[in-house]
Amino acid sequence: MVRHLHKISDLSRAECELIINKAMEIKKYPGKYYKSLKHETLLMLFEKPSLRTRISFETGMQQLGGHAIFYSIKDSPLGVKENISDTAKVASRFVNIIAARVYKRQDIWDLAKYSSVPVINMLDDYAHPCQILGDFQTIKEKKGNLERKKLAYFGDAHNNVTYDLMRMCALFGWKIYVACPEAPEYTPELEVLSEVAELSKKTDAEVEVIHDTLDAAKGADIIYTDSWMSYGIPKEQEDARKKAFMPYQVTSSVMEAANTDAIFMNCLPAMRGFEQTAEVIDGPQSIVFDQAENRLHIQKAIMLFLRGKF
Ligand code: CP
Ligand code: NVA
Repeated sequence: MVRHLHKISDLSRAECELIINKAMEIKKYPGKYYKSLKHETLLMLFEKPSLRTRISFETGMQQLGGHAIFYSIKDSPLGVKENISDTAKVASRFVNIIAARVYKRQDIWDLAKYSSVPVINMLDDYAHPCQILGDFQTIKEKKGNLERKKLAYFGDAHNNVTYDLMRMCALFGWKIYVACPEAPEYTPELEVLSEVAELSKKTDAEVEVIHDTLDAAKGADIIYTDSWMSYGIPKEQEDARKKAFMPYQVTSSVMEAANTDAIFMNCLPAMRGFEQTAEVIDGPQSIVFDQAENRLHIQKAIMLFLRGKF
């Protein structure tokens, strides 16, 4: 059966650990893998911009002996010029993996439904699984293990990265406090909250949405934030968002409320003075560039996993 990766909870905890461990091995011994996907092709469909995801997938595929095609669907959205089902069926005849970054989750579901090769979500409005797997690899490297921890997330919680962080913490039995404004447009969707509550029952995870930043940060091992202006946010919403999120900015006081050995993470792109102060992102607790680097290693492992090459 062809496996796809739309959201973190498409994987079990054991599979996440397998992928993370493989990524760590690939990082250590990259030369061992330089023919692992020889003669294979990855198609990358992009409807939104990207720096990290595009470069790391393209470089990663090349380092595994394969080839990656960048295809911009920005000006020709999926399902407009031809059915998504036709796109998926045609692309499946040419390539070994399809990866897509799109606005709507339904588009990834439709690609996966009609594709006969694995489909990887490179970010939609529901999930960003490659990011979160890479983040947990980074946490494992920095903290030495993935045993129960407290992660505190700040800012926009009606958000792809937040959703997969919540799913991952639920799978791993962690405590995650999501600190965000109370308005529904900034808090997680009910569907995601119920999915995470269901997952947590099996793992004793604690997932809380709260509105007090210092309570969220207290005792945290990881402080995490994401862009206030996700790709596609209309310009006219920027001022209102800035105003709503400013109380949730990660500042030195937030970092001081966390554990003394807490690390600061941001999936990037970041704006100094928005989600976090420059002092925090450029400070000694920030691991954002190691976090970004691991996108390369984890995505190699994800591709090998989905191609059955473990
Ligand atoms: N973090 C991340 O996915 O970055 P890009 O949008 O640059 O790909
Ligand atoms: N939430 C952000 C993540 C960027 C990697 C966005 O969707 O733009």
